[in-house]
Amino acid sequence: MTKQLRAAGIWGTGSAVPERILTNADLEKMVDTSDEWITTRTGIKERRIADEGQATSDLAAAAGRRALDAAGVAPEELDLIIVATVTPDMMFPATACLVQMKLGAINAATFDLSAGCSGFVYALDVAARCVASGGYDRVLVIGAEVLSRITDWTDRSTCVLFGDGAGAAVVGPVSEGRGLLSSDLGAEGAQGHLLTLPAGGSLLPASLETVQERKHYICMQGNDVFKFAVRIMEETTLKSLQKCGLGPKDIDVYIPHQANIRIIDAAIKRLGIPREKVLINVQWYGNTSAASVPIALNEAQAAGMIKDDDVVVLVGFGAGLTWASAVLRWGR
Ligand code: UT7
Repeated sequence: MTKQLRAAGIWGTGSAVPERILTNADLEKMVDTSDEWITTRTGIKERRIADEGQATSDLAAAAGRRALDAAGVAPEELDLIIVATVTPDMMFPATACLVQMKLGAINAATFDLSAGCSGFVYALDVAARCVASGGYDRVLVIGAEVLSRITDWTDRSTCVLFGDGAGAAVVGPVSEGRGLLSSDLGAEGAQGHLLTLPAGGSLLPASLETVQERKHYICMQGNDVFKFAVRIMEETTLKSLQKCGLGPKDIDVYIPHQANIRIIDAAIKRLGIPREKVLINVQWYGNTSAASVPIALNEAQAAGMIKDDDVVVLVGFGAGLTWASAVLRWGR
């Protein structure tokens, strides 16, 4: 990071997914699709679906609680909570406020961040810079989604892709040389129309018509997003590595956004990263948007893939269109 006052990194991670599993076989009964199509085109076998009444803030608080435990931080020690999501509990208040209440993190400031599937990496970058500046000491960063509520279950081109879940990380000061080494965030706003939820905002408020026209659901031009994803994963990974004087060969663990196994495979092939260094769990959860990178990061940690001083690279891409990558040297 440029002009860094102190090193900032991840103290602990956690994740939470709903218990209910929706398999490809279940989807075969809902729309004209097949396990074979979903598996070969996306790599997804199953995804988790939130129970009725289970909101984004519930999954976010559960993941947050686990990250706090892993970091050895009490809720009231937090001074900031950032929730990255495209499925907030409601338009306002921010989901981060609801999480603050659920955790009892009474001393934390709160805000939500909307950057689609790049949201967690965007929020991690913001959090690390807040800590590096000396303004905040303990920040809880959460990526959480209940995408099943904005999925059109009659549209086979999108409903097979998404799932629900949450992942979290506690960010704080770390020893010199560790933590966030560099990052690269960006957006191509002109491509925003490729992935939207058209209605319910100030442009197209909810009405009988918007409901009848199914405009409160995810609307995606998958092919174009696919091409963008493969290109940007390579570009942003190289850019953030270059900023801290590293290259793809220095990566110990690569944590990409889990949207489609073909996107991940194409990107790591271009970058020359062997698959054993890559955490892949898209087969179990599908695309959980902002939750995907922190769930994968937490799983990589739980599986013992990450050791102190490893170079860990996180990469997200999605609605916006946005992208974000971060290079971390692991450890406190
Ligand atoms: O999180 C960030 C944002 N999202 C993404 O990263 C998603 C990026 N895009 C993708 O992953 C892929 O584009 C998809 C998985 C969404 C689609 O895969 P594709 O290989 O690009 O398929 P396609 O859209 O070109 O469709 C190929 C065919 C079409 O039939 P025709 O026109 O060739 O007869 C579709 O109608 O597959 C058909 N199709 C399906 N068939 C069975 C589309 N969805 C399904 C389905 N089951 N679920």
